Amino acid sequence: MKVAVVGATGMVGEVMLKVLAERNFPITELIPVASERSVGKTITYKENDYTVVGLETAVSMKPDIALFSAGGDTSLEWAPKFAEAGTTVVDNSSAWRMDPTKKLVVPEINANVLTKEDKIIANPNCSTIQLVMALNPLHKKYNMKRVVVSTYQSVSGTGVKAVRQLENEIAGIEGEMAYPYPIGRNALPHCDVFLENGYTKEEMKLAREPQKIMDDRSFSVSATAVRIPTAGGHSESVNVEFENDFDLAEVRQLLSDTPGVVVQDDLANNSYPMPIYAHDKDDVFVGRIRRDESQPNTLNMWIVADNLRKGAATNTIQIAEYLVENNLV
Ligand SMILES: NC(=O)c1ccc[n+]([C@@H]2O[C@H](COP(=O)([O-])OP(=O)(O)OC[C@H]3O[C@@H](n4cnc5c(N)ncnc54)[C@H](OP(=O)(O)O)[C@@H]3O)[C@@H](O)[C@H]2O)c1
Repeated sequence: MKVAVVGATGMVGEVMLKVLAERNFPITELIPVASERSVGKTITYKENDYTVVGLETAVSMKPDIALFSAGGDTSLEWAPKFAEAGTTVVDNSSAWRMDPTKKLVVPEINANVLTKEDKIIANPNCSTIQLVMALNPLHKKYNMKRVVVSTYQSVSGTGVKAVRQLENEIAGIEGEMAYPYPIGRNALPHCDVFLENGYTKEEMKLAREPQKIMDDRSFSVSATAVRIPTAGGHSESVNVEFENDFDLAEVRQLLSDTPGVVVQDDLANNSYPMPIYAHDKDDVFVGRIRRDESQPNTLNMWIVADNLRKGAATNTIQIAEYLVENNLV
């Protein structure tokens, strides 16, 4: 496969290159792409050096697959140009996720919806991916009615600028701000932009994307998204009300049996999911599994994943692997 990585110099792009190498994705030609600022720079993949090219050049090289992580505006403008050239685009931005003509895919849940005709495929929001990985098996068994999720999201979810802001604050250096306030020793109830309904765009992604991925509108999601000063790894406190009652041991078993999900829930040994533990891992970790004693058929749990891996790069590459394995590119 001739593979373009659009946004190769960014946080997600770098992890994308690492994951492609780790999983030995069948690449015959790698095309690293970034903004004009980075054209001519060198990136290393599997110990070989590659020169970063611009978008125009990359389209003219007609890659089989383009893995996009270069922001929504770049995707809106350039994904259709790649698609027109015959390239299949897997996009990490929010540009196409809720477009009814585009598929929104977490391979463990709905890869089967993909066809050869899908030329632009959307990768869900990082917080959504880890949420649905845990919800899907439970919904199938107990039928969810309502989910209330509060996130504790790392600065790497915002990109390189935000990671630099945190590092500068720790080092006592005054620098460019990615957020309207300091993030060190702080918690910002403000991920992405505010919308007219008082929610942030991130919160509405969490509310809408699960229904599309799970192809089910019978449940609803209410979200509060908070940015905290962790470098990498998103955490979520999740409260789920089901139609049917559940058995806690069975819930743990269902989650343990789900590929890509690891139950980490041994209170006697202080074992529960944490960002420092999930770092650089592809799995979604679930712990603190307990009954909500305030109302019937309701469960509380704590979900953590590496937002740059399963939340972005790994999920994108799993989609690309599915396309290759099923001759869809
Ligand atoms: N961080 C996460 O956890 C996460 C998770 C899921 C999805 N995403 C999405 O992935 C995308 C990238 O996020 P990130 O965190 O990797 O951001 P980032 O670290 O800021 O990197 C952005 C990348 O996009 C490139 N880029 C920016 N403007 C461009 C343009 N006009 N033309 C071509 N390339 C351009 C940059 O190139 P230069 O280096 O040349 O500027 C860089 O390679 C965003 O859409 C984000 O929403 C991020």
